[in-house]
Amino acid sequence: KRKTRVHHLQAMKTAGDRWAMLTAYDYSSAKIFEEAGIPVLLVGDSAANVVYGYDTTVPISIDELIPLVRGVVRGAPSALVVADLPFGTYESSPEQALATATRFMKEGQAHAVKLEGGERVADQIAKIVSAGIPVMAHIGFTPQSVNTLGGFRVQGRGDGAEQLIADAIAVQEAGAFSVVMEMVPADLAGQVSRKLTIPTVGIGAGRECDAQVLVWQDMAGYTSGKTAKFVKKFGNVGDELRNAAMAYADEVRTGAFPAEEHSF
Ligand code: KIV
Ligand code: NA
Repeated sequence: KRKTRVHHLQAMKTAGDRWAMLTAYDYSSAKIFEEAGIPVLLVGDSAANVVYGYDTTVPISIDELIPLVRGVVRGAPSALVVADLPFGTYESSPEQALATATRFMKEGQAHAVKLEGGERVADQIAKIVSAGIPVMAHIGFTPQSVNTLGGFRVQGRGDGAEQLIADAIAVQEAGAFSVVMEMVPADLAGQVSRKLTIPTVGIGAGRECDAQVLVWQDMAGYTSGKTAKFVKKFGNVGDELRNAAMAYADEVRTGAFPAEEHSF
């Protein structure tokens, strides 16, 4: 299978072909997504929530994320693997951003990095790109800024539309190869997608983005509790796994497992 590269994503936009991106956090799930033909995998800082159990993405560190990247890269040899830069590891300066991005490339063996923000991180994006590292931007609702955005809210409504468009243009001009738009009104996301030459990746941003992304546990039904309005559940992995664990425990209790055929 051909390895997905940044220019393939650009070619798909030009051809009008939509593509799917998923998060991944370990070798085993990445291998499944490789088999499913998912071209782009994101080792999201959403690992803070789904791997480490934090309430927000704010506390996760570089050292908590890099080992996950290494596992995903090994599991999905033909995917383009994008690594999220954690909160507090790129905002201070372009130099700080490049140093962090370099760690994800060298120690994590990622193929690209992603960071949150539009105009405010344009210098960071330009610096990282100038070093030969592809950057995916992330605008609209940016979870690392949940405390200034007033909670999990749709962005770009009313006066916010102008800022969202300015952010989209700023990241493209800074050299980003793609941009995630999270929780943005569908019409506005469509307008931005037509305006930009780089592919847009929507999450809660309607049908007119060039690509879509979801957290895999949300998509596969491996989360408990309530999920966001923009999530569609394509499977019941959580139920499957719970049933398997219960069946296993039952059979151990009753002595049905291990049987003759599992013994030496
Ligand atoms: O961390 C993450 O999972 C993300 C995507 C949902 C865009 O940033
Ligand atoms: Na993220």
